Amino acid sequence: MSRKESLPSIALWRHFDGIAYGGDYNPEQWPVDVRLEDLDLMKEAGVTFLSVGIFSWALLEPREGEYDFRWLDEVLDNLSAAGIKVALATATAAPPPWLVHKHPEILPVTAEGTVLGPGSRRHYSPSSAVYRRYATGITRVLAERYKEHPALALWHVDNELGCHVSDFYGDEDAAAFRRWLERRYGTIEAVNRAWGTAFWSQNYASFEEILPPRVAPFTLNPGQQLDFKRFSSWALMDFYRALVAVLREVTPHIPATTNLMASSATKSLDYFDWAQDLDVIANDHYLVAADPESQVELAFSADLTRGIAGGDPWILMEHSTSAVNWQPRNRPKLPGEMLRNSLAHVARGADAVMFFQWRQSYAGSEKFHSAMVPHGGRDTRVWREVVELGSALKRLAPVRGSRVESRVAIVFDYEAWWASELDSHPSQDVKYLDLLRSFHRSLFLRGVSVDFVHPSASLDAYDLVLVCTLYNVSDESAGNIAAAASRGATVLVSYFSGIVDEHDHVRLGGYPGAFRDLLGIKIEEFHPLLAGEQLKLSDGGTASIWSEHVHVVGGVHIVEHVHIVERVHGGDGDDAGSGAGSGTAEVLATFTEYPLDGVPALTRREVGNGTAWYLATCPDVDSLGALVDRLLSESGVSPVAASDQGVELTRRRREDGKSFVFAINHSRTDASVSVSGMELISGTRFGGTVAAGAVAVVAED
Ligand code: GAL
Repeated sequence: MSRKESLPSIALWRHFDGIAYGGDYNPEQWPVDVRLEDLDLMKEAGVTFLSVGIFSWALLEPREGEYDFRWLDEVLDNLSAAGIKVALATATAAPPPWLVHKHPEILPVTAEGTVLGPGSRRHYSPSSAVYRRYATGITRVLAERYKEHPALALWHVDNELGCHVSDFYGDEDAAAFRRWLERRYGTIEAVNRAWGTAFWSQNYASFEEILPPRVAPFTLNPGQQLDFKRFSSWALMDFYRALVAVLREVTPHIPATTNLMASSATKSLDYFDWAQDLDVIANDHYLVAADPESQVELAFSADLTRGIAGGDPWILMEHSTSAVNWQPRNRPKLPGEMLRNSLAHVARGADAVMFFQWRQSYAGSEKFHSAMVPHGGRDTRVWREVVELGSALKRLAPVRGSRVESRVAIVFDYEAWWASELDSHPSQDVKYLDLLRSFHRSLFLRGVSVDFVHPSASLDAYDLVLVCTLYNVSDESAGNIAAAASRGATVLVSYFSGIVDEHDHVRLGGYPGAFRDLLGIKIEEFHPLLAGEQLKLSDGGTASIWSEHVHVVGGVHIVEHVHIVERVHGGDGDDAGSGAGSGTAEVLATFTEYPLDGVPALTRREVGNGTAWYLATCPDVDSLGALVDRLLSESGVSPVAASDQGVELTRRRREDGKSFVFAINHSRTDASVSVSGMELISGTRFGGTVAAGAVAVVAED
């Protein structure tokens, strides 16, 4: 069953006629007259959904056991009367001063042993038993008080779990890590095997001897580091589960979620794993002001969020109307940029558009962060754009519940992100996201939709599957990828994939052990490039970062500089990848420079009904683009529509077959897009042109 069909999720979406609209609402920062004005302004903007009470614990419970719900009662009653639904927070994202004073042991500890103090937010360890007791306590009090409140539509559990600090190294965290290891491995011998502790005299006699990977004289055990990353992601999720257990008991009819931070910046949390526990996926996204292509990163984040949601509609829980306050230089958004950003999220599957925050604070750390109601009030560009967006979202009601169509999958795995970037590797320049994002960008620019898919998930829906830097992979996932090729997909695997198993143990017999059979190649030795070094390829392209000594298995490979002809016999029999067909890989491009001149850089092998390509280096932008064109043409995938350059394109389709093309013109000139139908925002027939900086949503004929 998809998440969309789960009962609590249905209960949420049925509150809204169209795309839900609103933001974080912090009324506790304002006197009552401002709170009343808020209601009028919310009506003017078309607000339907607000997250309330995220950082309000110290006001709700000013002293232990003494509660003051007057302001929250008033706010929820008024919002409900105004027809606005609420995602009520558990208020646990910032422990109140009295709690820290009484129990300083809840504070987070870093790998260096530094205790992170109060005075900010998120100053607790998720493994602290004391903090869990208090956090589940306030959660229960809130759930009991508001369980029947008509405004309550969703639980907003904590806030951005793992933001600021995601790994915790205190003694209580160490004990929780040990318990987690015991559950995972059963015996200390199994831990020793998994971590390869025969190396450097690290063999453990008992679980009690194990510590988190705190700062040490030199590089730490990679198995220990990888498991600590798994544990840290799990520990935050386990804290979430403890709060949700209370909510399920008191309000089984109300769905629960927490706001994720899926983007190129959040590495430490395995959101594919987390997704199992969220009734609906919610994400926060902020543009990086210094990024000249921030719309591409936005698309990456939104596509990743949709992947985490398994394709179901999701909530954009926070983004900004204009500038943020936490980057080095906080540029405001350009006119129209907010609308483009918001609708780009909708184009990629969001059915709710929300901001941090409703009204810009006048005090505190975030007073220079933009909001829906700016310091300048109603007579501002931001406010006019907020009202304009509200009315556009209302007109997009027919889109709600539809799903984004994609025939291209990029395999995405947080564990591979962690493991591929551990220390002591052949090159520090191999970054998990680099090639993956280059492919995504190239497809974005071509108007081709991409889904991010976990390596263990079904790839049946895809004609093109890209596997980038999947350094660690299980036998099952490698088999899943190989099966996609046999079934008929075009599958491309890049360098530094399939090198180790899930324990970070090298798959012996020649790289890439997990994909050797599938690809029909064998890599003898890596040749990472020096900083800034570029290589020429035989097809005229250039490449950087990586090269390697690739042999085509069973094929003839001429290594010119030593004037030998060698034949490599492969298929050692212990490989996970299935090479269903048995063609020999053809070499499409080679390295051209000593010592790898003539060595394959790009290969392609027919496998069953599909193909398996191997890319042994990191091509420059144009070479990658040319490769993408070849892959698209082989797999028969075409863009959403023909258009001029600079237009972002996606298609969402409803279950009844009705489809909607989103065309977002990021350029400064008008652009033509060849789709026909009614344009929903203007309510007129689409004339084939999207004005500079504008957005068209076309309900296709
Ligand atoms: C988020 C957070 C919000 C607010 C926002 C500012 O990380 O959830 O509370 O701080 O950033 O951009």
